[in-house]
Amino acid sequence: MKKIKTAVVFGTRPEAIKMCPLVLELKKHEQIDCRVYLTGQHREMLNQVMEIFKIQADQNLDIMGDGQTLTSITANVLNKLGKVLDEDRPDIILVHGDTSTSFSAALSGFYRHIPIGHVEAGLRTYNMDSPYPEEFNRQAVDLISELYFAPTELARKQLLNEKKKPEHIFVTGNTVIDALKNTVTDDYYNEHLEWAGDSRMILFTSHRRENIGEPMRHLFYAVQRVVHDFPNVKLIYPIHKNPKVREIAHEILADEERIRIIEPLDVFDFHNFMARSFFVMTDSGGIQEEAPALGKPVLVMRDTTERPEGVEAGTLKLVGTDEDTVYKEAKRLLTDENSYQAMCHAVNPYGDGTASKRITEAILKYFNADN
Ligand code: UD1
Ligand code: UDP
Repeated sequence: MKKIKTAVVFGTRPEAIKMCPLVLELKKHEQIDCRVYLTGQHREMLNQVMEIFKIQADQNLDIMGDGQTLTSITANVLNKLGKVLDEDRPDIILVHGDTSTSFSAALSGFYRHIPIGHVEAGLRTYNMDSPYPEEFNRQAVDLISELYFAPTELARKQLLNEKKKPEHIFVTGNTVIDALKNTVTDDYYNEHLEWAGDSRMILFTSHRRENIGEPMRHLFYAVQRVVHDFPNVKLIYPIHKNPKVREIAHEILADEERIRIIEPLDVFDFHNFMARSFFVMTDSGGIQEEAPALGKPVLVMRDTTERPEGVEAGTLKLVGTDEDTVYKEAKRLLTDENSYQAMCHAVNPYGDGTASKRITEAILKYFNADN
C-alpha cells in the first residue's frame, strides 16, 4: 500500500509546541509517511521545543536572520520550501495557525496543487491590524486549505460563515491540550520559583509585533508600578529572543529587585511556572489557551483576542496596552479577592487532549486509508 506522504511544516515556538504532539501521533500510523520540515523562522526557541519532544526534522531551511522582516520570511520560505516540495512531492501539507511560516508554507503548497490541512483553523478577530500580520495569515491560509482542523465549535461556525465545505471541517480541540497533559508535575523544582518563594508571582510575557515600541513601554511601566506598590509581588518575565523586545525591557526593568527577566523557558518549565503563578500577564496567543485549563487568571495585554472562549469563561480579561488600565487591572487582582477568585475557575474550551488523534483520523479518512 502506498503511504500517505504527510509534510508537517512549522518554524516558530508556538507552532512547534502545537505540532509536535501531532507529529508523534502521525508517526504511530503505518499508513502515514510523516516528514517534518522546519522553516527555522525561529532558531533557539524552536530547537528548545524539538529537544523536549525529541523530534528530528527531515529538513531545516534555517531562514532566521536578525531583523528579519515579513517580506524576508515570506520570500525565503517560498524559495527554499518550494525546492523541497518539488523534490519530495508530499500528498498533503499540514501547517499551523497564523505565522508567516504558516502562510508562506501554505502558499508554496497551493502553487503546487498540494492539499493543505490547517491545524487551528477558523480563529478570527476580523481586524487585519490586530493581531498583525496574524489575522491576515490565518484568513489567507483558510482561503486555500482543503482540510480545516478547528479547535472549537466557534471556529467551525466562523469557517461555515465563510462558506468553507462543512464536510472538510473537523472540530478537534487544540493540540496544546495534548501537550499540557504531560507537562505539569507536583514535584517540579526551579531556582526562579525558589526565588519567588511565598510572594505572589506574576508570570509575564510580551512579544507581539504591534506592541513593540510605545505600547510595550506602557506595559513595562505598568508592571514596574505594580511591584513598587505591592511588596509581596515578584514578577518573572521569560523574555522572547527578539532584540527589539530585549532592548526596551532592559532599559525599563533591568534594575528592579523584584522582577526577574530570564531566558525563554522550555515548554515543560513554562507550564509549571504557569501552574505556580498567582496570575499571568501576556500578549501571547497560545498562553490564552493554556492558562484557562490551569485555572490561572490572565490579563491579555492586547486590544483584540481570537480566543473569546476564555473571555466568556471568565479566565481571560482583555486589558489593552494603556499603562493606567493595565496597572489598575493588575491591582484589582491583587486586592479584590472576589474578582481574583471569579477568574480562577479552571475551564477548558479546547478539547480533551485528543486533538492529534482526531486530526490523524480525519487525514486517514480523507485518503480512504481508515480501514
Ligand atoms: C513570530 C510570529 C508570531 C508569533 C511569534 C511566537 C510572524 C509574523 N510572527 O513572531 O505570530 O506569535 O513568532 O513567538 O510569523 N529570535 C531569535 N531566536 C529565536 C527566535 C527569534 O533570535 O529563536 C529573534 C530574531 O532576531 C528574529 C526576531 O526574534 O528576527 C523576531 O522573530 P520573528 O519570527 O520575526 O517574530 P516574532 O515576534 O517571534
Ligand atoms: N512558552 C514557552 N516558554 C516561554 C514562553 C512561552 O515555552 O518562555 C510557550 C507557552 O507555553 C505557549 C507558547 O510558548 O505554548 C506561546 O508562544 P508565544 O507566546 O511565543 O507565541 P504566540 O502563542 O503568541 O503565537
